[in-house]
Amino acid sequence: MSRGVALAHPNIALAKYWGKRVRAGNYPAVPSLSVTLSGMSTRTSVVLEGSLDADVLVLNGKEAHGEPLARAIELLDRLREASGESRRARVETSNDFPTASGLASSASGFAALALAGAHAMKLPWDAARISDAARRSSASAARSLFGGFVHLGAGAEVGPVSDVLAARPVAPESQLDVRVLVCVTSEAEKDVSSRDGMNRTAKESPYYDAWLVDAPAVCAEMERALLAKDLARVGALTERSAFAMHASAFAAGVRYMRAATLEVLDAVSALRRGGLAAWATMDAGPHVKVLVATSDASRATRELTSVPGVLRILETAPGPGARLLEGP
Ligand code: PMV
Repeated sequence: MSRGVALAHPNIALAKYWGKRVRAGNYPAVPSLSVTLSGMSTRTSVVLEGSLDADVLVLNGKEAHGEPLARAIELLDRLREASGESRRARVETSNDFPTASGLASSASGFAALALAGAHAMKLPWDAARISDAARRSSASAARSLFGGFVHLGAGAEVGPVSDVLAARPVAPESQLDVRVLVCVTSEAEKDVSSRDGMNRTAKESPYYDAWLVDAPAVCAEMERALLAKDLARVGALTERSAFAMHASAFAAGVRYMRAATLEVLDAVSALRRGGLAAWATMDAGPHVKVLVATSDASRATRELTSVPGVLRILETAPGPGARLLEGP
């Protein structure tokens, strides 16, 4: 029996990716810079079974069909093609945090699936090749292969679908002494996937072209600030990137923010006025993630817990990249 078991953490983009190149292969239109988060994880096992005539996906204990299954099969097919493997797989995956609600479950999910699947199929791939394979399913997943602070470049505008584009680690977990407070504002699944949201933004937003110009500049400046360990600059650019991304999407009628999202944004501004080092970011969902200096984290958590609409707060920290596990 061939099997692989992997654990991956989600990551949160501080400089966001939003928008894809028009070419096939899921290449991002802008670069991004993220932090991988310990304190939340996806565990995935892939077992190849000669007796199966179709791949099976068990997601959080329940057999999955439709889009989640189709996307898993698509990644497994790519690995099968590269390895010459023909057997179908039984995939069991579970998250210790809400799935598909804008908490980056696709990032940790596809990173863990690519790593476990490549191991089960005995592909002699390094982390960069696995990052490329994960990127083809979900660009943010490319970054979860690595720990600490991670960069993913934009894809070239044209080129063959075989072009490798992998994330690269930029700085270790210890680069900034920070926590990321994940303020959960809903347990529901999001209603517009990031893929659909990006496509609508690219087609319909009058501000998409401005985003394509601004995002690479913000990302490059953030990388410099990060290497200089300048938390205040990284924080300010984190908010700028999130606001620009959501503004370009909003202009196309794609809105992930809810009332509770705005309440948390106000509260984070108030924390800063009170002298705390805290900045907010949001992804394709209503939650707010707060980048905060470790020394301010417990005060920030106390204040944010009482914000209307905040259901709970997960405290996370910069964490390691995806890794293989022993055992079933
Ligand atoms: O990786 P995807 O296709 O699910 O898109 C992720 C998009 C954002 O989370 C909003 C931004 C990012 O860079 O992670």
